[in-house]
Amino acid sequence: MAEHNTVPLYMARDGLAPAAEVVELRESGALARVPVTLGHGEAWLVTRYADVRAVLSDSASFSNDLMGPQARERAEAAGISGDTMTRMRKGQLLAFDPPEHTHLRRMLTAEFTMRRMRRLEPRIIEIVEDHLDLVERAGPGTDLVENFALPIPSLVICELLGVPYADRADFQERTTRMTDTSLPAEERNRLSQEGRAYMEALVARAQADPGDDILGMLAREHGDELDADALTNIASLLLTAGHETTANMLAVGTYTLLTHEQELTRLRAALDDPAQMERAMEELLRFLSVAHSGIPRTATRDIEIGGQRIRAGEQVLFALAPANRDPRFIDDPDRLDLTRDPGPHIAFGHGAHHCLGAPLARAEMRIAFPALLRRFPGLSLAVPADEIRFRPHHVVYGVHSLPVIWSRTTR
Ligand code: HEM
Repeated sequence: MAEHNTVPLYMARDGLAPAAEVVELRESGALARVPVTLGHGEAWLVTRYADVRAVLSDSASFSNDLMGPQARERAEAAGISGDTMTRMRKGQLLAFDPPEHTHLRRMLTAEFTMRRMRRLEPRIIEIVEDHLDLVERAGPGTDLVENFALPIPSLVICELLGVPYADRADFQERTTRMTDTSLPAEERNRLSQEGRAYMEALVARAQADPGDDILGMLAREHGDELDADALTNIASLLLTAGHETTANMLAVGTYTLLTHEQELTRLRAALDDPAQMERAMEELLRFLSVAHSGIPRTATRDIEIGGQRIRAGEQVLFALAPANRDPRFIDDPDRLDLTRDPGPHIAFGHGAHHCLGAPLARAEMRIAFPALLRRFPGLSLAVPADEIRFRPHHVVYGVHSLPVIWSRTTR
């Protein structure tokens, strides 16, 4: 460890920029040894765009398999039994390698096609408009995280999973509170157990009487392969992977627009230009890279990345924010330019595990940002920008709150 460059708080960022330490590391070209936050032990941290892509596109050399011999050893050292691992792993896309991963993912992709997203769009529009009404009623000074960014993705996931209307207010409140790091850990634990029990009941209902939603479809078409544990894990994965990520994109994305006046003016002028809006959303995704990383990979053989020899069994982590701002990938990487096509950024990851929900996240952004800007032509921050508190140590980068004011609204 001592001979390697160590980045202790490698995820911590400073405002919108990636942490200075990871940028330095990227520019040096070296890999560093870092502690693994979503797992156990240490990993090599990869920060260059080309190196991250090389790792993520090579599932044969960099495994996600939580049941591999090294991963099992690490889990046992952390006190997790083989049986628990097998149960926890069912249906968890991120815990499998091809060909099992490919098989499982195929069962789910039908629900995430562009066509399916188009069908969801009218509901997303309604959810967005309802929350803009809420923001408007709450009045200037209201918090956009609480009334806009967090509830929208949560309700869209309700739509996807077929959560009955009567349960949605409770579901959404629990989901929001589960991720509130200001709550004591026991309280969050209790909420997460309650959430799990709710998902189990939802799955039991889908198995007994499959509807049109994703759980109904999976129970009907793949019920012989996916048992209740697998379906519950899938539902929980979609909630955890899809809620905070999109919520933080909406919140930090709005902060970014409100603090880049010239870009905001250009965007307001392009609200009716879908191609320009699409480019702007991709640039925001690249510029912010709210998912710092993904789950650690384990090398299956000795292999070299960025000039560093990685031994079989060692873990590898990747940092998406510095990679998406790598000057070898894109010119003038630290400048937000909403008119450019940022090219193949990796804010949604890359390779076999490229975000399954990317079409949904894009649809939510494509609907929510223009609707917000249209409704509030004079939208601005209610406090000086440097008073907005970021969440530097959180799994997904975000802001605690985003109080806003506006001069007038349009309907
Ligand atoms: C995977 C980011 C929204 C579901 C991933 C990965 C990233 C990511 C970086 C790759 C992780 C890895 O390789 O270790 C994001 C961002 C989002 C977003 C930035 C919003 C802006 C969503 C939504 C859903 C979702 C809305 C579903 C409702 C998933 C799933 C995977 C995944 C299921 C695992 C795919 C697989 O293993 O094949 N996401 N995500 N994500 N995401 Fe997203």
